[in-house]
This record gives sequence, structure tokens and C-alpha cells, in this order.
Amino acid sequence: MDVLEDQIERVLISHEEIQEKVRELGERITADYSGRDLLLVGVLKGAFVLMADLSRHIRLPMEFDFMAVSSYGAATKTSGVVRILKDLDHEIADRDVLLVEDIVDSGLTLNYLLKNLRTRRPSSLEVCALMHKVEAQQVPLAIKYTGFEIPSVFVVGYGLDYAERFRNLPYVGTLRPEVYGGLPPG
Ligand code: IMP
Ligand code: MG
Repeated sequence: MDVLEDQIERVLISHEEIQEKVRELGERITADYSGRDLLLVGVLKGAFVLMADLSRHIRLPMEFDFMAVSSYGAATKTSGVVRILKDLDHEIADRDVLLVEDIVDSGLTLNYLLKNLRTRRPSSLEVCALMHKVEAQQVPLAIKYTGFEIPSVFVVGYGLDYAERFRNLPYVGTLRPEVYGGLPPG
């Protein structure tokens, strides 16, 4: 299975659906943050694709920063213990921070990140996530901007990986069981 597409079982969210939704989110964010001091914080690596598309639908002056955290290993469940691999380059005190995430699964990663960022006293802190596995969520979280609510299935594409691959798929889909040897990750 050398061809990337051959490893996909089915498309869950098409490229067109994603683009439409991202545009809509960008318009909402533009309206909500008008006249404010917006700092977009991307959670690496998964959020880099959304960050690039979303930011180009936000018609406001703004800045970017990134954090890298590890929650998942190659193919295991999240532990709730989050390690910061790369911290922000800049301070966020008195800034309007919008955290951009690829997906909220158990919510443990996001919960940790929000707690951590709150201690730095931003003037506001909100979340934009492309996908939300509502049934899988283990901690209560307020996510202001959600793209899609999806069932608890393991998905790849549009930034999301399985063993660091598939991030470059322009859509979101599930993998054929052969790819991960029968047992779905997550
Ligand atoms: P949580 O802490 O369980 O919410 O997991 C969050 C992180 O796990 C996300 O930022 C993703 O990197 C990863 N993750 C969760 N679900 C999936 C999935 O379906 N496919 C790929 N990565 C996922
Ligand atoms: Mg991952």
C-alpha cells in the first residue's frame, strides 16, 4: 500500500466541508476579536494545518506562537500527563489568546494546557478545535469554537497523524485496520 489514499478506510469529513467550516470559524473569530490584541497559539504538531487555513480567514492584525506537547505516544491512549516539549516564545500576560487544537478527545491535554496558560494571566483565553469527540471527553471544558463533533473513532488527516504519518491528507478519514495491525489506536 504505497499510495497514501489506499490506506484510508473512509472519508469522515471532506476537504470541502473542512474549508467551509474553517471559513465560518474565521469569520466568527474576526467579528469576536475586532479591536482586540489577538494571539493565536497553535498546539503542535497537529494544529499546523488548521492554523494555516484558519488564520487566513481571520481579517485582523494578529500574532502567532506555538507550543509542542506530548500526550500520545505512537499509538497509545492519552495518559493525562502532558509534557511541554516546546513552550511559547513570548509572554501572554494581558493578551487575548486563542488556543488552536486539532482535536479534543479525552480533553486531558487541553485541560492541562488551559490550566498552565491561565497561570500566565492572559486577558482572555479561548479555544478553537477542528474536531471534538464529545463522548470521549473526561473533563468538563468550555470550547468556544468547534468545527465538528465526531464519534469516538481514530481519525487521521488535516494535521492529525497515526505514527507521524497522514498529516498531509486534505480531508479527515479513518484508517484501514491493516495499517495499524487490527487494533485501532486511541
Ligand atoms: P486528549 O488529551 O485525549 O484530548 O488527546 C488530544 C491529542 O491526542 C490530540 O491533540 C491529538 O494529537 C491526539 N488525538 C486524539 N484523538 C486522535 C485521533 O483520532 N487521531 C489522531 N490523533 C488523535
Ligand atoms: Mg498525535
